[in-house]
Amino acid sequence: MLEVKNLQVVYSNGNEALKSISLSAKRGEIIAVIGRSGAGKSTLLRCINGLQTATSGEIILDNENITHMSQQQLRLTRRHIGFIWQEYNLIERLPAMTNVLIGRLGYNPGFGSLLGYFDRSHREIALQSLERVHMLHRANFRADRLSGGEKQRVSIARAISQNPKILLADEPVASLDPELSVQVMADLARVAREVEVLTLINIHDVELAKKYADRLIGIAQGVIVYDGKPETLDSHTMNRIYRFDKDQNAGSSMSPENNALLGSPAVVA
Ligand SMILES: Nc1ncnc2c1ncn2[C@@H]1O[C@H](COP(=O)(O)OP(=O)(O)OP(=O)(O)O)[C@@H](O)[C@H]1O
Ligand SMILES: [Mg+2]
Repeated sequence: MLEVKNLQVVYSNGNEALKSISLSAKRGEIIAVIGRSGAGKSTLLRCINGLQTATSGEIILDNENITHMSQQQLRLTRRHIGFIWQEYNLIERLPAMTNVLIGRLGYNPGFGSLLGYFDRSHREIALQSLERVHMLHRANFRADRLSGGEKQRVSIARAISQNPKILLADEPVASLDPELSVQVMADLARVAREVEVLTLINIHDVELAKKYADRLIGIAQGVIVYDGKPETLDSHTMNRIYRFDKDQNAGSSMSPENNALLGSPAVVA
């Protein structure tokens, strides 16, 4: 279903965010990607979604090599990739229903979608998607009138309405309070299981990751250091994932670049 082979990403400033990442995943799996800030979690999801170009390696989704795509291929592929963002990415002044219909845009090309016209079949799918996340009663509410948890549920509905081959969620509960985080993660995992979609969730909260994912992938400094069941993640591996890298951090505050920043009037002012 998804094959990532020796994926490497070097940003233009020379920063190697991913170093030869390889993984394969099946339909219906729910995978939590954990790791310290800067480990490379978002870079991985962004590569799969075509938002970031791989420096080397390959990404194969449903037997299609999606590593390097033309703009047109990218458009077609993206309609099969649902993305859930930390900050929801809803259009605030539009109703929840319209926001979910936006997930159907890839299937409703041409003038219709430009005019905001979606036929009955699209509307039915949008309503079903809202129902799945218990948000049918908010279908006509403008997005900016919804609470954070409700916004994220609408954004899950939008992603599901795409009938995606893969669902990518980058810190989907990081903006929510602990109680809501649990509820929204529970909803996300339940919906993903119901529609049997392969789901990759970047998440900082390891307890939530262990509770709702079938599989954990731990990344440290662009390398996978754990790939397995939540139950078998031990404290030694946790240390490898979350270790404080003394060598890397000891020098940084005193680096010539930082000294220059300290001395820079533009920064001090
Ligand atoms: N556009 C960019 N240009 C240069 N370096 C970048 C860029 N985006 C990310 N990086 C760097 O690549 C590394 C991986 O970043 P990434 O955002 O993937 O980490 P992350 O695991 O998602 O972190 P977080 O948990 O904070 O979201 C970091 O060192 C980051 O500073
Ligand atoms: Mg990130």
